[in-house]
Amino acid sequence: MNGAAAARRPEATEPEIAVVRTARRLRGELTLPGDKSISHRALMLAALAEGQSRIDGAGDGADVRSTAGIVAALGATVERVGGDERTVSYRVNSPGADGLRQPGAVLDCGNSGTSLRLFAGLLSGLPLTATLDGDESLRGRPVARIIEPLRSMGAELHARLDDTLPPVTVVGHTPLRAVDVEPRVPSAQVKSAILLAGLRADGATSVREAVATRDHTERMLRARGIGVRTDRGNGPGVTVMVDGGGRVQAVDERVPGDVSAAAFWLVGAAIHPDAELTLRGVGVNPTRRAVIDLLRAMGAEIGERPLTEAIEGVGEPVADLTIRSSRLRAIDLGPEDVAAAIDEIPILCLAAAVAEGTTRIRGAAELRHKESDRIAGIAAGLAALGARVDVDGDDLAIHGGARLTGASTDSLDDHRLAMTFAMAGLLASGETIVGRPTSASVSYPGFFAELERVRS
Ligand code: S3P
Repeated sequence: MNGAAAARRPEATEPEIAVVRTARRLRGELTLPGDKSISHRALMLAALAEGQSRIDGAGDGADVRSTAGIVAALGATVERVGGDERTVSYRVNSPGADGLRQPGAVLDCGNSGTSLRLFAGLLSGLPLTATLDGDESLRGRPVARIIEPLRSMGAELHARLDDTLPPVTVVGHTPLRAVDVEPRVPSAQVKSAILLAGLRADGATSVREAVATRDHTERMLRARGIGVRTDRGNGPGVTVMVDGGGRVQAVDERVPGDVSAAAFWLVGAAIHPDAELTLRGVGVNPTRRAVIDLLRAMGAEIGERPLTEAIEGVGEPVADLTIRSSRLRAIDLGPEDVAAAIDEIPILCLAAAVAEGTTRIRGAAELRHKESDRIAGIAAGLAALGARVDVDGDDLAIHGGARLTGASTDSLDDHRLAMTFAMAGLLASGETIVGRPTSASVSYPGFFAELERVRS
């Protein structure tokens, strides 16, 4: 990889770094990797459906590849039948939920929390025993949040350190008990694990969420013939009910561009003085689009052209977005905003660092349990670049108006931190070093090449 922003391995003994220099301008069009959340679910549901499913535009990052590998290890045939640098088309042929086979080895989720938690739910009601494991980061991510509700359904799961950390072993039981549960944390992964187990339960399973999380699992199950009802109260909460005993049908679908990947370009362009970017085919599902609306509330000039023809398939709304240099102002974010923009908080912190005024983020505890402790990681990186960030427990105050200066940052091997610091480097004076940049490929293969392409 050549060029100012390319990730390189300088010497065997030196840590891997990327060097990002100040950009004069940002111009161009980008297509994003396929949405990571939807790609995982499409592969998992293809494993449960008897027959052939086709998935176009799936994300081709390491996380989705982990899920594809596990689907194959369970006995479905998974073929890569097309794609480009960032997306892949899959053809999956499965014997269906009851024909899946006992895996011969540990199922490797790599860095992917979504793979681990959703497969734990999916496997709970199948007549198999399987162990889910992953890399060092994944082994530090909490699993009691899925084990407790799944056990209440009669599932048998075991995990390390008193059932708190991966690896997780699932001993499947059929049928499971239909239950009514209220998870401790707002988490689409927890909700989805319960809904997937609920497919194998003896009645309708309900999940009550205090704050509604992304609803891809619900939409995708409905599109495959499963009864799923959503009951919205007046507040931010929601109850989702799934019928047990249904058969997941095989379907063909196209995955929209990942709004969480788009978020880096939205902020990168908004904070840069000479920028205009067009992002094609971005998923703008109401439960995922908070980053767009929060940036607009900060003053970002984001244009949105809905692509109604693309709404078919998985039932996800899609739009082209344009973003240009903007004057940003501070915003206050509470726990509901954190849940709605959970993956975009790091890049929103960069926007806050250069906005006018002080941005306060309250109730961000969940950020400490992602691929890294993102509160610590973002505070350290932004401080190195010259921003003032105060951390008080799980709350952050980001004092805006920073003039960013190139410095050495560490992604902590976390893809979202690597891409955040790379975006900061386009604006910061001099050179910004991003430590451990190849983590970006977990969700965004080719990210650094795209950065080179749209900058001058
Ligand atoms: C995801 C849900 C979120 C998010 C993750 C993907 C999903 O996690 O952070 O990147 O696909 O369901 P939580 O729901 O656990 O917060």
